[in-house]
Amino acid sequence: MVAQDTTLLNPLTEGLPKERLAEPFALVVLGAHGDLTKRKLIPALYALFCDSLLPQDFCIVGMSRTKMTDDEFRNAMKDSLIKFAPELHFTDANWERFASKLYYMPGNFQMENGFADLSKFLDDLAQRHGTEGRNIFYMSTPPSLYSDIIVRISEVGLNKSKKWKKSFWPRVVVEKPFGHDLNSATALDSQIHKFFEEKQIYRIDHYLGKETVQNIMVLRFANAIFEPIWNRNHIEQIQITNAETLGVEGRGGYYEEAGALRDMVQNHMLALLSLVAMEPPISLDADEVRTEKAKVLKCMRPIDIARLSDYVVRGQYGPGYVMGEKVIGYRQEPSVSPKSNTETFIALKLFVDNWRWADVPFYIRSGKRLMKSATEIAIHFKQVPHRLFTMMAGDVSKRIMNQIGANVLVLRIQPDEGISLKFATKQPGATTQLRFLSMDFSYGTSFGVRSPSAYERLILDCVAGDGSLFARTDAVEASWELLTPVLEAWSKPGAPPCFTYPAGSWGPEESDKLLSCDNRTWRRI
Ligand code: BG6
Repeated sequence: MVAQDTTLLNPLTEGLPKERLAEPFALVVLGAHGDLTKRKLIPALYALFCDSLLPQDFCIVGMSRTKMTDDEFRNAMKDSLIKFAPELHFTDANWERFASKLYYMPGNFQMENGFADLSKFLDDLAQRHGTEGRNIFYMSTPPSLYSDIIVRISEVGLNKSKKWKKSFWPRVVVEKPFGHDLNSATALDSQIHKFFEEKQIYRIDHYLGKETVQNIMVLRFANAIFEPIWNRNHIEQIQITNAETLGVEGRGGYYEEAGALRDMVQNHMLALLSLVAMEPPISLDADEVRTEKAKVLKCMRPIDIARLSDYVVRGQYGPGYVMGEKVIGYRQEPSVSPKSNTETFIALKLFVDNWRWADVPFYIRSGKRLMKSATEIAIHFKQVPHRLFTMMAGDVSKRIMNQIGANVLVLRIQPDEGISLKFATKQPGATTQLRFLSMDFSYGTSFGVRSPSAYERLILDCVAGDGSLFARTDAVEASWELLTPVLEAWSKPGAPPCFTYPAGSWGPEESDKLLSCDNRTWRRI
């Protein structure tokens, strides 16, 4: 009799297609001493473990330069789990079982020896945990080390597995930013491709793992009522906003090199745009979905650099008040130059030059230290063709109709995740007075369950070999192709200025002008 696969006994995985069932694996977190491991990766793995979504056997190896024993690493991870993921209901019993799968290996990523030792260690773990070469290398180091690490891993043969070649093991997960412009992204990509096949590479963009982001495709393609009007005939403009009240939170060193355009727009914001604008894929196969998303980025209209200020506005927060608290300006943040010109806010007007979207503006804004924290996509529909009610109604309604004017479908990504549709109604009374109201759906009240974090979903997908929610090389390159000319223009003398805005505002006033010249305003959030 063939022994039954233990993962099949898990009631939570019952019914899932066989290829999604996770097999024993070893996850090596390179740069395990960093913030991402503490705040996101370990909480996500612990949550998956508690929900019985991981296989019976697996192991996690943290690797970084800091010297630590397994137990010291386990204790550090336990403390940060309690601190950063209070929603996960920590229990000692679960932790003990989980911690027995955690290991630590100090190592220098630039030295060959470190990886020879890692290779031996993984062989040993393969015996103990039945992982048999199903290794995942998660790059959580400064991006400048990615290239070296890939070479080191491959020099000791850790990029290959004869046994699991067909299921594309081992795998490598690459954190953003993937390159810092088009040339560096292409160079990094060819370096990785020397040693790994595309199906072994998982370029992570955590926005794609958010529940509400995944719901964009469901909303569009599992409901009959939206697709027929999801085009230039009915949609007038689209606004995508990412507003954060937080500043750079001790990441000044990284942020000085990145700025809002590299940190948020090249990846997260363009990922949202492509989900909103893509054509229906022919199936949910990872490559079909990614092909449609990449097509959107390939037909973005190049930004007119000669008239850059008409399309792109950048800003940097000065001191101010956020939610009643006094905060310092960006230039006063640790590890930031007092003369820094790095943008902490960016607004762009973009166009997708294809049949569906010709001439529909996509306004994007992303900024730190703004008035509120919210990420949303607002689809603004066209006005009714004949304004019957404006003509009939009294002054108040006329004003409302002229100001607000049309239906807006808002996809709230975070917080208060949900969807709302703004529409006109008649106010009760003897006269025809109009009012715009919202029909509202909220995840929290409708489902009443904890949504898995983006990292839970993405780690599980990587273990299961499903790359649909990871960025493919052509999409990454297309996004850099769009944005690199902006970065180049900013670095030249005479470039449009980086405007200062007070912390706690909605960014520089100049970002309003981007829309006011089209007779539009940013949606009030
Ligand atoms: C990260 C950026 O990728 O995304 C951060 O580096 C940003 O600067 C963060 O704050 C926003 O993510 P979320 O999930 O909090 O919206």
